[in-house]
Amino acid sequence: MNIEVAEDESFQHIVATAEAPVSEASDWTCRVLTGGLKPSRVYWYRFTDAKGNGSRVGRTITAPPDDDIRPVRFVFISCQNANQGAQNAYRRMIFEDERSAEEDRIGFVLHLGDFIYEIVWYPEDRPQGMYDRRLRDIVRYEHGEKIRDFHIPTVLADYRAIYRAYLHDPDLQDARARWPFVCMWDNHEFSWLGWQSLQKFEGKTRPAQTRKVAANQAFFEYQPARLFKPSGPSLDQFDPPQVTDVPVTHFDEHGLGQEPNNLAAINSLRGYRAMRWGHNMELIITDQRSYRSEEPTDRPEAQAFSSDNFPELLPQEAMEILDAGNTYNGGHPPSTIRYGSSEIPNFCRDEPSQTVLGAEQKAWFLDRLKKSNATWKIWGNTTATLEMRADPQNLPAGLTTPWPGAGYAGFSGADSSTAYTEKGEVYDFVRDNNISGFTTIAGDRHSFWAGLAAKSLPPKPFEPVGIAFVTGSISAPGFVEAYEHVFPKEHPLLALYIGKGPADTRPQPMINLLLRHGVKSCLEYAKSGDINKARAASNPDLSPHVSFVDMGGHGYAVVRVTSNAFETEFVCIPRPLERSERTDGGPLVYRVKHMTKLWRKGETPKLEQQILEGDPHFSV
Ligand SMILES: [Fe+2]
Repeated sequence: MNIEVAEDESFQHIVATAEAPVSEASDWTCRVLTGGLKPSRVYWYRFTDAKGNGSRVGRTITAPPDDDIRPVRFVFISCQNANQGAQNAYRRMIFEDERSAEEDRIGFVLHLGDFIYEIVWYPEDRPQGMYDRRLRDIVRYEHGEKIRDFHIPTVLADYRAIYRAYLHDPDLQDARARWPFVCMWDNHEFSWLGWQSLQKFEGKTRPAQTRKVAANQAFFEYQPARLFKPSGPSLDQFDPPQVTDVPVTHFDEHGLGQEPNNLAAINSLRGYRAMRWGHNMELIITDQRSYRSEEPTDRPEAQAFSSDNFPELLPQEAMEILDAGNTYNGGHPPSTIRYGSSEIPNFCRDEPSQTVLGAEQKAWFLDRLKKSNATWKIWGNTTATLEMRADPQNLPAGLTTPWPGAGYAGFSGADSSTAYTEKGEVYDFVRDNNISGFTTIAGDRHSFWAGLAAKSLPPKPFEPVGIAFVTGSISAPGFVEAYEHVFPKEHPLLALYIGKGPADTRPQPMINLLLRHGVKSCLEYAKSGDINKARAASNPDLSPHVSFVDMGGHGYAVVRVTSNAFETEFVCIPRPLERSERTDGGPLVYRVKHMTKLWRKGETPKLEQQILEGDPHFSV
């Protein structure tokens, strides 16, 4: 395969050519490194095969040099599901970028994972579809495994097939042809509830070393990125390590499974890396799945802390005790945890505290943070760091049974936000080392969030050390859509999740109010239908770290970084059920900007919010 790189779209000024081998060994993909390009410049590239067949033309952009102080723009996204939705968000991004002035254009697209969903429903598996969605027949796994009513890949050929299926999407194709993509995997590139090289289905954990290696190989082949692999720097092929699916039984003091096939599988491709983009920003990307310890609230013993009376809610004090393991209370964890009138065994009492990053990656991450001299140090964490809290302790008596927890509730479906010990360690490090411009951007949660990074919330001290954002999904269904279909209609707490005001004809995303303002705001809205009265009933101690939350939003986030400010624009589109034929990708629901001026030592970061288009009603 011949590749040409040119300074112009019509290939009058070709600056580089190369021959790249393609073969079955890499599924007919190839990777080419081009040196000697000028910084901060647009280039075009194309491929031609031996018979003279040409590819479409791709556009890419080189990074600015380290001393370039000009503002930079990029987009961060996550969670596209081609089995269940349309990628209209990309069409909107392209439409807006084409109409922007040269200096306002997007420099790159950061994809924070769930580029594919390895879990696929064939249309006949669910004739009723998924929530509001029609299921598309995008792939058939030749060697797939059927679990309940869905299918998962089992071998390399299946993982390759799902990437190819996604890359058939016309909107994703155009986006990949327009911008350089910086991709990091989250869970679905390997396995839904996967951690290290383990899979979890129907409550059972099982070894899946061969599948983790296959997932890494398909990522290497289909995602352009310079990642470290122990088999050597060759870009021609992956050279997978030989592993077998052996049970992982021994974990070290950081929860890392010491079984050699587990270590070989997770080390077969290292995804964490840093990327400098001019004077103003360094992007430090981490892997939240490959090295993490087992999520404590995901264990069967943790079931004792959940109750159908309080959907999704777990007592925060229990989550904190389980997270800290044997480090709780200065190394004196309780043997039981009180929940209502029960004493539940503290099953993490003799275990190390939870880690999402793992010891080795965490040491690397903290070192990069400390050494970076960019104005803004941006943590690209695929999972969200902003805590999701509710205040069921403030429910009026008589509505339902009393809340069995001691105070606030956290949400199940834990992520980086509930790795309290590790998050505290990172934020203390930021504070103690006077690291300025600390920002986290994330995906995974299928919702838009803007807020402040703090290790604890009231009644504990609230001392932000940075800012944090989460982007809505490109197309995968979110909580609000799921609640509309599965939340019990007669539940006494319906008003907190997907309730209605007296004049509403359809359910509203009350979950946004619950997380931002608390139960009293939700109940006020259910009574009066007056959003201002509802906001006035806010519990100021619930979420002082959150400025914006939309558990039903889809779209993308545009970041503009300058030498004294960080701006994030959430571009929210309607639920992407079908592909829009419009050149702009369809209408917008809202566009909201959050701006933070660079804070000085001793100052607290502040977010200024501006609603530019539409009305994000329940989100502010
Ligand atoms: Fe996702």
